[in-house]
Amino acid sequence: MDETTNAPRAVPRTACVFGASGGIGKALCEKLAALGCERIYAGSRRGAAPTGSAFTPFAFDLNDEVSIAAAAAMMKDDPPEWVIVASGVLTLADGTGPERTYKRLDPRVMAEVFALNTIGPALIAKHCLALMPRSRPFVFAALSARVGSISDNRLGGWHSYRASKAALNMLIRNFAIEMARTHPQGIVVGLHPGTVDSALSRPFQAGLAPGQLTAPELAAERLIGVLAGLSPEQSGRVFDWRGAEVPA
Ligand SMILES: NC(=O)c1ccc[n+]([C@@H]2O[C@H](COP(=O)([O-])OP(=O)(O)OC[C@H]3O[C@@H](n4cnc5c(N)ncnc54)[C@H](OP(=O)(O)O)[C@@H]3O)[C@@H](O)[C@H]2O)c1
Repeated sequence: MDETTNAPRAVPRTACVFGASGGIGKALCEKLAALGCERIYAGSRRGAAPTGSAFTPFAFDLNDEVSIAAAAAMMKDDPPEWVIVASGVLTLADGTGPERTYKRLDPRVMAEVFALNTIGPALIAKHCLALMPRSRPFVFAALSARVGSISDNRLGGWHSYRASKAALNMLIRNFAIEMARTHPQGIVVGLHPGTVDSALSRPFQAGLAPGQLTAPELAAERLIGVLAGLSPEQSGRVFDWRGAEVPA
């Protein structure tokens, strides 16, 4: 593995990215294609995908299980060796940002953040893990965040976002345990991409130290490198872009 970029040793023949329109998701799609991945199912709300013969676009919405089930059904004859959930929200579509104090908690906002960051990825797991062959390796990875770590939480704030990612991490661990019983070569993990220049981070970039913001292309290369280097014994955990485990 290349120490500076975590350049991968191997890439899958087939992969699926849910959230292919996002900053990190689009970069993951493009990097997988550049590395020779032959078939990339690229899911977004609009059903658009990067141009190129490797891409099979599809439409899905995290709030619509039927659309997620349809995506899985579409892939069943040639299931992706890697599934990466690269969707998520920090600021809601109506502009509501993350809460800095318990006094601002709003059940509607909390429910929406959990629907998008926790329940949506869980439904993707529900339908995509069922596609995975028992006797072959696979990777299911969901973009989580370091702020979802309970033991690493020193700053507080961002209540719904942090809690939605902590809950996602718990589901990842649960799915890993369940899959290991029948799919010994499977890997189910969370990923922390670093602070990446995207629509999600843009409103919060002002106070960042120089060099702290990573380009999506570099983040994607690093994350693919991390996934390519994982083994089934590491399933159920969350890893950062360096490949270091994020504590629970
Ligand atoms: N950027 C960072 O610094 C950072 C740090 C830690 C963790 N992360 C995590 O990394 C992941 C990707 O973040 P990003 O920075 O790439 O954000 P982004 O550029 O804002 O992309 C977010 C993605 O989520 C999709 N999405 C939102 N609501 C959806 C819905 N209802 N149904 C389907 N897709 C939906 C968006 O699709 P549309 O294009 O249709 O809106 C977009 O593809 C998130 O889980 C985030 O929490 C990011």
